[in-house]
Amino acid sequence: MDELAEKIAEKPVEKSIEQKPWSGRFKNPTHSLVEAFTSSIKTDVRLWPYDIEASKAHALMLGSVGLISSEEAKSIAQGLDAVAEDFAADRIVLSDAQEDIHMHIEAALIAKLGDTGRKLHTARSRNDQVATSLRLWTRDAVDTLVNGLTSLQRSLVIAAQRAGDTVLPGYTHLQRAQPVLAAHYYLAHVERFERDRQRLKDTRRRVNQLPLGSAALAGTSLPIDRHAVMRSLKFDGLCNNSLDAVSDRDFVAETLFAMSMIATHLSGIAEEWIIWSSHEYSFLDLPDELCTGSSIMPHKKNPDVLELMRARSGRVVGALQNLLMMLKGLPLAYNRDLQEDKPALFDAFDTVHASIQILTLMVDGAKLRGQHIESGLHHGFLDATTLMEALIEVGCPMRSAHSIVGQLVRTAEEQGLTLAELPAKTLSGAHPQLNDIAKRKFGIKNTLAAFRSHGSTAPTMVASEIKRWLSQLELKS
Ligand code: ARG
Repeated sequence: MDELAEKIAEKPVEKSIEQKPWSGRFKNPTHSLVEAFTSSIKTDVRLWPYDIEASKAHALMLGSVGLISSEEAKSIAQGLDAVAEDFAADRIVLSDAQEDIHMHIEAALIAKLGDTGRKLHTARSRNDQVATSLRLWTRDAVDTLVNGLTSLQRSLVIAAQRAGDTVLPGYTHLQRAQPVLAAHYYLAHVERFERDRQRLKDTRRRVNQLPLGSAALAGTSLPIDRHAVMRSLKFDGLCNNSLDAVSDRDFVAETLFAMSMIATHLSGIAEEWIIWSSHEYSFLDLPDELCTGSSIMPHKKNPDVLELMRARSGRVVGALQNLLMMLKGLPLAYNRDLQEDKPALFDAFDTVHASIQILTLMVDGAKLRGQHIESGLHHGFLDATTLMEALIEVGCPMRSAHSIVGQLVRTAEEQGLTLAELPAKTLSGAHPQLNDIAKRKFGIKNTLAAFRSHGSTAPTMVASEIKRWLSQLELKS
């Protein structure tokens, strides 16, 4: 052991340390209500694997720079492994008196190793410790969500492929608008989730910066090696300002925003499928195993899962609000307010993670009722806009074409006909070339075949988009 490590080892240990690490300063014990009020153990216990990992890296660094001996570093690392086993086997009794997971782990280590365990917290504060554990947890959470989204996207692309040439009525304002391939619809959701995935990946870069070594707020006078810890915990870089490092929760806010966007996207598809599975639409059959029944009405098959997904998106957005309100107006550096980041983050993650998994199953199992959808496609004048565009192509000004088709729609509606069923005389009266156009452009098939712009629902375009996604998501075509 070198001189410095020896000096630290010789330092007297306060008797009170067995109770609370900080009780030396206090004459009276903490009121039990305050212990209960300040404790976060029930929430942050799930950080234990991350705190152990970071503590091991910290201990090994302390050993390598000589702040503790290498034997001590090794025995702390082994002691932490043993504490991890205790946690995994549920052998640790959680208590409000120990405040949080970091104190529990340290206390458990000291119980095993005595004075050697008391050296772990050298050159470290709970302020940089909690920030480090939370970043490690968030990094894993982000990766889990990225993987979950990838699986969901794969299921959506396979559903797009399965949908073949099924055509859906496309809606704006929930009013029938233009026909779209069902595959185009599925791929629209793939695009949304792709932005979510990219957002998470981008967020990860800012999550993955190491705060450990910033100590309480100002850094430390002890000769630590932050780069070594950074490397062993696989962080991409160091937080460069200790005041910022212990108080920065932007990464939590960003992750919550990324999750809020996912939840918002999930709520949209949930809403669509709730409507589509209703008798009135009957577009979709949801798998039995993902639906629930009614306690009184024997015939019911309810989309409760999708309804809860829709509702819980509010909880996720609420968690983001919660965090931003908590951060707003906080002075530098660490404030205990920051402890409240975890309930919001964990709850949002659990909600979004579960929703993604269930929606993936739902996409795999839901069946479009192709025949039924097709039998209703002639309702709602889905070909009107393409007809207007055909008039534009023969030189009719856009606004005139709009008005001509609008009037035809009114006539057809009054007579209970589709545009294609209008008498030839009505058509030629509206525009001299309309009868000719009608042969080529009326009806859903012709309408769909007419699309050609990039990103449209043109069947060739959609087919090549399916191909692109299959290869991007490493799926076999
Ligand atoms: N449990 C706290 C949190 O999650 C860390 C405690 C830091 N406490 C302190 N007095 N500095 O933020």
